[in-house]
Amino acid sequence: MGIQNKKFSTSNMTANPRKDEWHPNIWPPFTQISKSNPPQRIVKANGALLEREDGRTIIDAISSWWVTLHGHSNPYIAKAIYEQAIQLEQVIFADFTQPQAEHLAERLSKATGLQKLFFSDNGSTAVEVALKLALQWWFNKGESRCQIIAFEGAYHGDTFGAMSVGERNLFNEPFEELLFPVKRIPWPATWWGDEKVDNRENNALKRLEHLLEHPTAAVILEPLIQGAGGMAMVRPEFLQKVQLLTRQSKALLIADEVMVGFGRSGSLFASKRASISPDLMSLSKGLTGGFLPMGVTMATKEIFNAFIGSNPSQTFWHGHSFTANPLGCAAANASLDLLEKDPKSFQNFESRHLPHLKELSQHPKVKKIRLTGTIAAFDLQTDDKDGYLNIAGKAVKKYALEQNVFIRPLGNVVYLLPPLCINDTQLEHCYYVLKAALDTL
Ligand SMILES: Cc1ncc(COP(=O)(O)O)c(C=O)c1O
Repeated sequence: MGIQNKKFSTSNMTANPRKDEWHPNIWPPFTQISKSNPPQRIVKANGALLEREDGRTIIDAISSWWVTLHGHSNPYIAKAIYEQAIQLEQVIFADFTQPQAEHLAERLSKATGLQKLFFSDNGSTAVEVALKLALQWWFNKGESRCQIIAFEGAYHGDTFGAMSVGERNLFNEPFEELLFPVKRIPWPATWWGDEKVDNRENNALKRLEHLLEHPTAAVILEPLIQGAGGMAMVRPEFLQKVQLLTRQSKALLIADEVMVGFGRSGSLFASKRASISPDLMSLSKGLTGGFLPMGVTMATKEIFNAFIGSNPSQTFWHGHSFTANPLGCAAANASLDLLEKDPKSFQNFESRHLPHLKELSQHPKVKKIRLTGTIAAFDLQTDDKDGYLNIAGKAVKKYALEQNVFIRPLGNVVYLLPPLCINDTQLEHCYYVLKAALDTL
């Protein structure tokens, strides 16, 4: 299978970006208006395709910020949400429970091996909950441990706790003084043909060992793949060693699987693929198949038990208005049905990327190719410094959009993270367009 453009029809896909003004009432996320074009309006979506008002389609090659799992408007999930909506759309989740939430908790508990599930609203809050649970676990045990260890390059969300454990950078600079202190170790990312990974891993482990000499509440990481940090992938062996050191120090291990969960890593959970068993796990994005916002934090029974007691301060005083929203739970249960029915859809995805990536690896503008599960990435070879502010990816993004493929490079990191339903022709078209974009650089 080569990088060609034989089968994918572009007859209805001529480039003509909408030139409307910005909407007068909308404040868009992650956008500097003075340097961006107004967004295109999408009115419909199906499978891997987004549809504009005039009917022209775009391949959503990054699953709409990594959430769309099986495909847009998946009829099975849509039906489950509809049926739930006319049965029970919402009920307060204190004093009451409901079957969809119970069913989901049972299934995720079985799938992750973590017996207890705490509901929240999105990825950031799923991380906040994990951090608060870890810190309060030590508080409840009567041992003062506040040190948190996180990785360089990490991204865990945009609320204050999540920002604190994320890499300090441009995005959180205005709030820096209010973020809680976190100790950091390097993330020894690797790629095809990397010969120095052992050294980098050893350095990171040495630093971790040193930091763990101080009583530590928790170590938080994105298993196998740092997402916003540049699709930076590490070896499972490294994570196993991190787990060993963390356990020896009695600190808790938090796996932020907000991006990598639900098959993105080629396994249902990246922790499983890496053979690690965290104490706490944050999940969101693909949880509902990408249909509705919802987050959950999974915890061991041991952690849960430390919150049971007669002293009110032992309680986890945390909850959100939409906790365990039945529609979100129905979507999540339907999404799990689909994953269970066709595990090959994510288990075999790597082999679908592979031939294309091999071909791209010959391109002079490509370096540091990496692949884990459904996520394929490489860095653009440029004269500027690597990183988020490197503008090389912008030209590739613009070119790809003109060819009706939507990507959002992270600086000079270009990646594909498509929904599982993308067909071979569409995937081939993505790679064809990427190669053509690279030829223009
Ligand atoms: C690993 C990780 N954690 C947390 C988050 C935050 O999720 P949300 O944007 O739903 O708050 C993200 C978002 O991209 C993420 O990739």
